[in-house]
Amino acid sequence: MNVGIDLIHFSTSDYYLGLDTFAEEKNIDVEKYYIGIGQEKMSIAPPDEDVVSLAAKAAAPVLAQIEKSDVSAVLFATESGVDQSKSAGVFLHGVLGLSPRCRVVEFKHACYSGAAAVQMATALVNMNPKEKILVIAADIAKYDVDTSGEATQGCGAVAMLITESPRILTIEPGSGYHTEDVMDFWRPNHRKTALVDGKYSTKVYLNSLKQSWAHFNEQTGRGFQDINHFCYHIPFTKMAEKAHQTLARVAQVKLTPDEFKAQTQPGQVYNRIIGNSYSASLFIGFCSLLDNSPENLQDRRVSFFSYGSGCVAEFFTGVIQPGYRNMLMTKSHVHQIAQRQALSYADYLAFYHQVDDNVENIEFALNNKGPYRLAGIQDHKRYYQAV
Ligand code: CAA
Repeated sequence: MNVGIDLIHFSTSDYYLGLDTFAEEKNIDVEKYYIGIGQEKMSIAPPDEDVVSLAAKAAAPVLAQIEKSDVSAVLFATESGVDQSKSAGVFLHGVLGLSPRCRVVEFKHACYSGAAAVQMATALVNMNPKEKILVIAADIAKYDVDTSGEATQGCGAVAMLITESPRILTIEPGSGYHTEDVMDFWRPNHRKTALVDGKYSTKVYLNSLKQSWAHFNEQTGRGFQDINHFCYHIPFTKMAEKAHQTLARVAQVKLTPDEFKAQTQPGQVYNRIIGNSYSASLFIGFCSLLDNSPENLQDRRVSFFSYGSGCVAEFFTGVIQPGYRNMLMTKSHVHQIAQRQALSYADYLAFYHQVDDNVENIEFALNNKGPYRLAGIQDHKRYYQAV
């Protein structure tokens, strides 16, 4: 039985901060961002946008194509959770009006949890082919102002329907994984923003790639030349470039510049202008590959490297299905990005400092253009509304 991604759609916020504006404000050469880290813009969430409203925006077009009541589970992956007890997925379940005959749970391990949710959903469908599982990976990447991470913020959510006989990608059995207890990036419970040891985090990322790759080779017998396209977790696109250089070196493969570009760049188009979206970024990269590859990807093998700081990593592969192009939601992706409104640095700071949901009661001003928004908090309870 083939199991994998039947439908996939992502969302991002309605606002962005250009790294040109950012560089001017900080008096730094913009090429540090455009070339040095390979980023141009960061999607910025207004105070009435959170991972639930982002997830609802990502999932609505997926649910519009199926019988909503068929969704048997929602696996919600995030490290920007909205409650310490209740899962973001149950808020989403309410917003979208899913069937009570559905289980919902939140997955967390930094940026890795989206890949974990995809693997676990695949295993559930393999056990019972009747299952149709909605996997959500949604995050808002937020660092302290005037830290090295500030230029690598962003936000986004991906909704993936995992079923048997999937129409976009079958996920292949066997993967390589690596876990190590390290402090390269973390967010203690009392903080809204992440703490990061930036340079160290890039080293741990690359080491985790090498370890996961070695394990993947052992488990599957597949090598570099068996893979046509490579998707990586993308905190910033230069990191994915470094990852691909590392992988080619470890696999002792010499790539021409054109081969290198063809294997990596179509998968970075969206991430370059959205920024980091933690658990979602690997799958926004996959959407970018599907939507922007000049070639027909049918029967092509794609690899996925997921890295979650702290750290857990996994390397796995899938095969693109015949007719996949008919299932893509490219127009919606392109439209969402194109309609975003540019923020000045002062506007961005106003959004940045306004987001405070540690309150008993608040009503948020309308900035989120929908289709769903966080309207407010009453007696410590979040409430959402359709826009
Ligand atoms: N023109 C061209 N390039 C320039 C330049 C210029 N004018 N000025 C600087 N550069 C280059 C530098 O040479 C450097 O390139 P290399 O890495 O190839 O040497 C690059 O731009 C970045 O410059 P710095 O190292 O000086 O930048 P920085 O001190 O601001 O830190 C960072 C960069 C560590 C990535 C920082 O952005 C950060 O801390 N980001 C958050 C952490 C992160 O994303 N880590 C990634 C791995 S962890 C992970 O993947 C999980 C996750 O999602 C967080």
